[in-house]
Amino acid sequence: MSNIAVLAGDGIGPEVMVEAKKVLAAVADKFQFTLKTQDYDVGGAAIDIHGNALPDVTMKGCQAADAILFGSVGGPKWANLPPTEQPERCALLGLRGHFDLFCNMRPATLQPALSSLSTLRSDISAQGFDVLVIRELTGDIYFGEPKGRKGEGDEETGFDSMFYSRREIKRIAHLAFQAAQKRNNKVTSVDKANVLATSQLWRQVVEEVAVEYPNVTFEHLYVDNAAMQLVRDPNQFDVMLCPNLFGDILSDICAMITGSMGLLPSASLNSDGFGMYEPAGGSAPDIAGQGIANPIAQILSAALMLRYSLNQDNAAKAIEEAVGSALDNGILTADLLPAEQRSNAKTTSEVGDYICAQINTANI
Ligand code: NAD
Ligand code: IPM
Ligand code: MN
Repeated sequence: MSNIAVLAGDGIGPEVMVEAKKVLAAVADKFQFTLKTQDYDVGGAAIDIHGNALPDVTMKGCQAADAILFGSVGGPKWANLPPTEQPERCALLGLRGHFDLFCNMRPATLQPALSSLSTLRSDISAQGFDVLVIRELTGDIYFGEPKGRKGEGDEETGFDSMFYSRREIKRIAHLAFQAAQKRNNKVTSVDKANVLATSQLWRQVVEEVAVEYPNVTFEHLYVDNAAMQLVRDPNQFDVMLCPNLFGDILSDICAMITGSMGLLPSASLNSDGFGMYEPAGGSAPDIAGQGIANPIAQILSAALMLRYSLNQDNAAKAIEEAVGSALDNGILTADLLPAEQRSNAKTTSEVGDYICAQINTANI
């Protein structure tokens, strides 16, 4: 039996998590395995209840679990707290740092048949694409010290430190090349080596690692060009290897060109194979509480959890197929529809129900 710590969090987090739990129950039933889920408070919701975005009881629950399924944290209510108390810094970065979840994988795919979902021009989206963003998740300017503010008046400064060590770059680069070997054998490493010392080291170390994978096509791109190339022709990419900050930004582009921020799942893994699984998007305060959020990124994150942490690849595939069939059959939340068709949008729970029904009736 597997134990899952479920941290739904804030905004749309709890709404989409209900659907992910329904889908997990459906595959557990279909594939005859036992999953125990335990809910824990996190983020702004935990601040309101416990006075802390990452309470001890939540951390202990995560430590005892086989995997963490995370929703999203943050929102205007908690945005003006001191930085270290904010939900994003304290809870999300706290968990990533604590478990050393340095490898964040964000798979963005657009089937040619679903090209109309994309915001790209139709001749570009018609090609489809399958991009895996591998984002380093525990280094870079997110975690570098010193970080803070000092001085007063017009002389006040805010500062963050961008750091990477050889060790950090090497371990993520190896995973990117190994992932490419199982896919389309191409790695694009993203940096800003024309300006940043961290990027110069990044480029040098990635090149050294690349020599060990002679059959993988390898290129460097500056991050500004990479952003442009993603919207010009995403089909040219296979694995995009990114430092933390650039991967954050590029993965939002990847999400939108597949159709919506609400479609992109992610897996964050450490070197022991322990993982936290979460949508790439956030708590979406603008649509929270209305039952209209897209649950697919959360549901596909649960599928990644089944694949990477629980060794249930068939169940993961069944979820991915059921999601594909929802998209194919126009079972779409409002974010995936043009304005004039939004009156036909499905609700969060209608999409979740459809996916569960597809799983229940699938031939396995
Ligand atoms: P966001 O990703 O929450 O929202 C950006 C836009 O995408 C919004 O218009 C939102 O409605 C839409 N969107 C996102 N997910 C969607 C979904 N599932 N279905 C339909 N539409 C969806 O980004 P933001 O507005 O910049 O941030 C809001 C809060 O979320 C902030 O506090 C931010 O720090 C936090 N955040 C948290 C996480 C996380 O917990 N993993 C990730 C990103 C942002
Ligand atoms: C993400 C989010 C987080 C990040 C924020 C909320 C700290 O944007 O997971 O993409 O920047 O990593
Ligand atoms: Mn982000």
